[in-house]
Parts: sequence; C-alpha cells; structure tokens
Amino acid sequence: MERIKSGIEGIDRITGGFPRGRSILITGDPGSGKTIFGLQFAKTSCEEGFKTTYITTEEDWKDLDTQSKAFGWDLKVLRDGGNLSIIELASLRAKVTEAEMSIDIESLKGDFSRFLQDLPDDTQTVVIDNIGSYTAKLTPYEFRDRLDLLVYELKKRDITAVIILDSATSEEFNGIALFSVYGAFKLMKRENPYTGQRERVMDIVKMRSTKTPTQFITYEINSEGINITSGVEQDSE
Ligand SMILES: Nc1ncnc2c1ncn2[C@@H]1O[C@H](COP(=O)(O)OP(=O)(O)OP(=O)(O)O)[C@@H](O)[C@H]1O
Ligand SMILES: [Mg+2]
Repeated sequence: MERIKSGIEGIDRITGGFPRGRSILITGDPGSGKTIFGLQFAKTSCEEGFKTTYITTEEDWKDLDTQSKAFGWDLKVLRDGGNLSIIELASLRAKVTEAEMSIDIESLKGDFSRFLQDLPDDTQTVVIDNIGSYTAKLTPYEFRDRLDLLVYELKKRDITAVIILDSATSEEFNGIALFSVYGAFKLMKRENPYTGQRERVMDIVKMRSTKTPTQFITYEINSEGINITSGVEQDSE
C-alpha cells in the first residue's frame, strides 16, 4: 500500500506514513493539538505536491493562518501556489439571518455530504476539522451510517483524509467513529507515573495493515509544531 507523509516525522518513522486514499481519525481533548496535527498534515501534503483541502467548521481562515504562522508555515503561500484550498464552514455558523440559518440546519441534521459538496474535483488530501460540529441530533446509528458513507466516498475518490472529531462529541460517538476509519489517533495529556510531570501523549488506536506500538507515544508542541519525543521503534510491541 502506498504511504504518504503524515507531516509528523516521528509518526512516519513508527507507522511508515498514512495509507494513501484512506481516512485517519484524530480525536482528543481541547488544546491537545488536533488542529495543529491537521495543519501540519495539510502543509506537508501541499509541499509533497498534493492538491489539499482544509475544511474548517469552527475556526476561520484567519485563526488558522495565525496559528500556522507561529510555526513558520505560510498558508497564503501554499494557497497562492495552487495546492491548498480552504473551505470555511465556520462562517455559516456565525451568520444569523434566517436564510443563512437554514443553511446551517444541515449541520444540525448531521449532513456529512456537506463536506464533499465543495471539495475541488482534483483534491488528493483533505483535512476535516471537525465533524463534531455536525453530530448534534444524530442517533448513534445515523452517525455510524453517515461517517461510513463519508469514508467510503473519500476512498472512492482516492483521497487521503484526516478527519478530526472533538471530545465535545460523546464518548459513544468517539467509540463508534473508530470502526469506520482505517486508522485512528487519540491525543491526550497524562501524568507520567515516574516523573509525576504532565505530558502530552498520543495513542495510535489502530492502523490497519500496519504494525503499531501498543504503548503511548509522547509528543510536544514546540515552535515547529507537533514533535514526537518518544523513541518508539517500528518493530516494538
Ligand atoms: N506556538 C506554539 N508553541 C507551543 N505550543 C503551542 C503553540 N501554539 C499552540 N500551542 C499549543 O497547542 C494548543 C492548541 O492546539 P490545537 O488548536 O491544535 O488543539 P485542538 O486539539 O485542535 O483543540 P480544540 O479541540 O479546542 O480545537 C494550545 O492550547 C497550546 O497548548
Ligand atoms: Mg481544533
């Protein structure tokens, strides 16, 4: 299976990269780095020459640009270069007129096809940040169904996707989502049992047809974005 860069060197070292044309789920608490992960993947994909789309449901383009600049990534340059498209669904939520509200009803109904609707035809990699905004009012069964369909459509179009789901979405939905995707990462903070210090760790919950470590991988967010700090080797269990 062809692999593409995740944007995080340590993850590529451990997993060999993201399987092309498949969907990877990123879950985690607020501030755990999900958006940074997504931006890092998008930026790297652009640099690799892939037509990349970043769909944002909560932050606007300016917030993403500000965050990216802190790491020395220039989204404008990538956009002007023609490899990056940014779709802001966030602005829909902020609007209050009745006509515009009716558009936003789609998010309440959990219409995931919204994500594919404006996707440029030539898109090769996509980040959806995040589908949690679209899960209100869905039953677990509907959620599973829609996510399966989204993942299926993306695969059919050979699009490698990073799908972000926030922890405001119920644990039940977080659990369900794991079944639909090819791979999943969970980002969190925990207390290191040896040092007593809080640290950032990620769990590679699953990655089909890939040997993954069972232990948590430590990471930090520094001036270059997400950086894996644990020295887990590919062949460790
Ligand atoms: N320049 C930076 N240097 C170091 N750490 C940073 C920097 N910028 C942001 N961070 C850290 O990253 C966190 C934000 O990460 P990010 O926005 O990716 O989280 P998130 O998981 O998407 O959160 P949310 O669920 O709220 O969207 C901040 O809370 C901060 O701890
Ligand atoms: Mg975020």
